[in-house]
Amino acid sequence: MILGLCGSPRAKTTEYVLRKALEMLVEQGVETEFYTVRGKNLGFCIHCDHCIKGKGCILQDDMQGLYPLMEEAEGFIIATPVYNGGVSAQTKTVMDRTRALLTADPKAFRGKAGAAIAIWGSQLFIPFFQAADGRAFRPPRMIPVVAWTDIGLICAAFALALILAQTIMLLAALRRGVFQALRMGDRE
Ligand SMILES: Cc1cc2nc3c(=O)[nH]c(=O)nc-3n(C[C@H](O)[C@H](O)[C@H](O)COP(=O)(O)O)c2cc1C
Repeated sequence: MILGLCGSPRAKTTEYVLRKALEMLVEQGVETEFYTVRGKNLGFCIHCDHCIKGKGCILQDDMQGLYPLMEEAEGFIIATPVYNGGVSAQTKTVMDRTRALLTADPKAFRGKAGAAIAIWGSQLFIPFFQAADGRAFRPPRMIPVVAWTDIGLICAAFALALILAQTIMLLAALRRGVFQALRMGDRE
């Protein structure tokens, strides 16, 4: 089983991308599990060293439900939103709290596969407001994606609305004999 861990407190981009990655694994016949920090009660590691004595984590919160999943997993995809250039506090909390697994068994994660997904926002527009020297920050090139289908649908909707409006106007004009009144229609 591959465990997808979402470190975003929202059901937005990070969750979306992680779910897509897990879907791709499922298509390959891989069993997956999705876990999100959203809505969970996850306390910070307090460095009490309770776990070092082999007693597990002293904090009885939602992390207790995640430990068995982490033990069972053969691999992880850790997905995090970028907060101030790093992982989110929620993701870091989960990472810190895995200490309880490693102190119980230092080989707990040995041989397990790992992948990471990081979702950020401002790097897409920071290059346009570059304050530092050009060499200081080189964001990756953006790949332009044009939503042709959506554009097509919008154009079709506008065309349809226009045709409808013109038809209604023409019918109304015909009914009222406007063309005859303006001497644009039949002459008797
Ligand atoms: C506290 C905080 C700090 C952030 N710091 C950064 C940052 O350093 N760089 C960046 O590109 N985006 C930053 N962002 C924007 C998020 O990375 C971006 O909105 C991301 O898509 C959020 O993921 P989500 O939609 O899954 O919640 C920050 C957002 C928050 C709330």
